[in-house]
Amino acid sequence: MKKNIILIGFMGVGKGTTARAFARKYGVYNIDTDDLIESKENKEVKKIFEKKGEAYFRKCEQQTADWIEQCVTGTLISCGGGFYKVNNLKKLGTVVLLDASFEWIHNRLKTAKNAKSKLAKRPLFSDVKQAKALYKEREKAYKKVADVIIDVATLTLDEQLEKIAGKCKI
Ligand code: S3P
Repeated sequence: MKKNIILIGFMGVGKGTTARAFARKYGVYNIDTDDLIESKENKEVKKIFEKKGEAYFRKCEQQTADWIEQCVTGTLISCGGGFYKVNNLKKLGTVVLLDASFEWIHNRLKTAKNAKSKLAKRPLFSDVKQAKALYKEREKAYKKVADVIIDVATLTLDEQLEKIAGKCKI
C-alpha cells in the first residue's frame, strides 16, 4: 500500500478544512481529487456534471485514482464524496473516514459563512431529500472501506489531526 492518507466522507463533512489544517500542521502536501479533475478538464465540477453528466465525472475520478496509484506518495489526498467507489481505493493509502450524521453535515453547510457557494458548487446537494437518501445509501459503504474513522462531531479540529497522524504514517 502507498504511503498516502486518503481522506473520504460525505459532501460538506469538512474534508477540505481538515486536510488544509493537517498539511499546515505536519508540513505535507495536500491535494484534492475535485481540484485535480477541475484542472485536467479545465472546468468546474458543477459544469462537468451539467455538460458531460455524472457518469463522465465518475470516469474522471477513476482516472485520477489511477494517476495517484502510479505517481503520488507521501501526500494527504482529500477526496470528493463519491471517490470511495474507485476500484483501487485501498491501494492508494490509508483510508480515513470523516464521519458525522446527515443532520450535523447539513447544519454545518447551512450555517457556514459562505453557505451559498458551498451548496451551489455541490450539484448532489441541491435537493436536501435526495442528499439525505444518498447519505443513507453510502453510510455503511464508507465505514466498510475505512481503515480509520474520525467522529468529527465530538472531536476538535486539533484532536482530529492528532488522531489521523497517530494512525497514519506518511
Ligand atoms: C460528490 C461530492 C463532491 C464532488 C461531486 C460529487 C459526491 O465533492 O466530488 O460534486 O458524489 O458525493 P465534496 O465531497 O468535496 O463535496
